[in-house]
Amino acid sequence: MQVARTIQEAREQVKQARSSGRSVGFVPTMGDLHRGHLSLVGRCRELADYVVISIYVNPLQFGPGEDFDSYPRDEDRDLALAERAGVDLAFLPSDRELYPGDTSVVVTPKRLADRLCGLSRPGHFEGVLTVVAKLFGIITPDVSIIGQKDFQQAVLIKRMVADLNLPVDIEVAPTVREEDGLAMSSRNAHLSESDRGYARRISRGLAEAVAAYRGGERDAGLLERRVTGALGTGEELRVEYVEVVSAKDLEPVARADADTVIAVAAHVGGTRLIDNIILDRPDPDLEKALHNWRA
Ligand code: PAJ
Repeated sequence: MQVARTIQEAREQVKQARSSGRSVGFVPTMGDLHRGHLSLVGRCRELADYVVISIYVNPLQFGPGEDFDSYPRDEDRDLALAERAGVDLAFLPSDRELYPGDTSVVVTPKRLADRLCGLSRPGHFEGVLTVVAKLFGIITPDVSIIGQKDFQQAVLIKRMVADLNLPVDIEVAPTVREEDGLAMSSRNAHLSESDRGYARRISRGLAEAVAAYRGGERDAGLLERRVTGALGTGEELRVEYVEVVSAKDLEPVARADADTVIAVAAHVGGTRLIDNIILDRPDPDLEKALHNWRA
């Protein structure tokens, strides 16, 4: 595995791969790699000959008071995991390399960012899209794999690529979960044993809503109540939102169909957790967790 720390080095490596006729796949990350990230790398290897990962904690997407300073950074561990997963090139730029001066052009999303996570994290998606656009400009991938876990982010990246005609295919990969159903996240490490019990309610609530949908329930309000009912009203788990929306435009729907997403954000013991399911898209790890709960 090659490691590039400058834009020029990264471009040279990618150019070499292309000159030998290889297609280029790209997985952007902020490091602290877990099985969720590695599953994106695995999928990327199936779709492209040359696999690039970026590891960069992007200051632009963190708001004041968010966890930018405390975001876990362990380069050696991440590089070892990336290499073992079959990554060909790891791109680890410094802040100065990516943002050398005062930036005057950014990618600002419109309405799609004014809902769900955008309400509590103003400017977050502008930071995400700006860095992803820069990374796409540096790596020039044929395909990029994004996780469904961050659903609004995935929708916005797809819309950026469509609206700005960027020459890259985006594939959205399923959420990788812990055995108890909790969606994998770097932030799960902050959860205490008892927090974990509350956090588990999120995926459980989503699974109950899927079961109701499969049983024929189409009323979005009732599906939403399935989830809020599972989450409870205690202080230990504070709900930020539970929304039943269209996967295309994130607008609330009255009746659910195959393209409907249920998205949740909740705070457990100071940690903000998000999760979602697309009603008709298989979520293999959620099925496994359901199986474990019933056993
Ligand atoms: P990060 O949180 O490191 O996530 C990198 C990629 O891994 C994202 O596409 C995310 O959706 C995916 N991912 C995270 N947890 C996952 C899980 N449990 N299962 C499957 N995929 C998962 O998202 C970001 O970084 C940043 O916003 C970034 C896109 C890199 C821009 O800075």
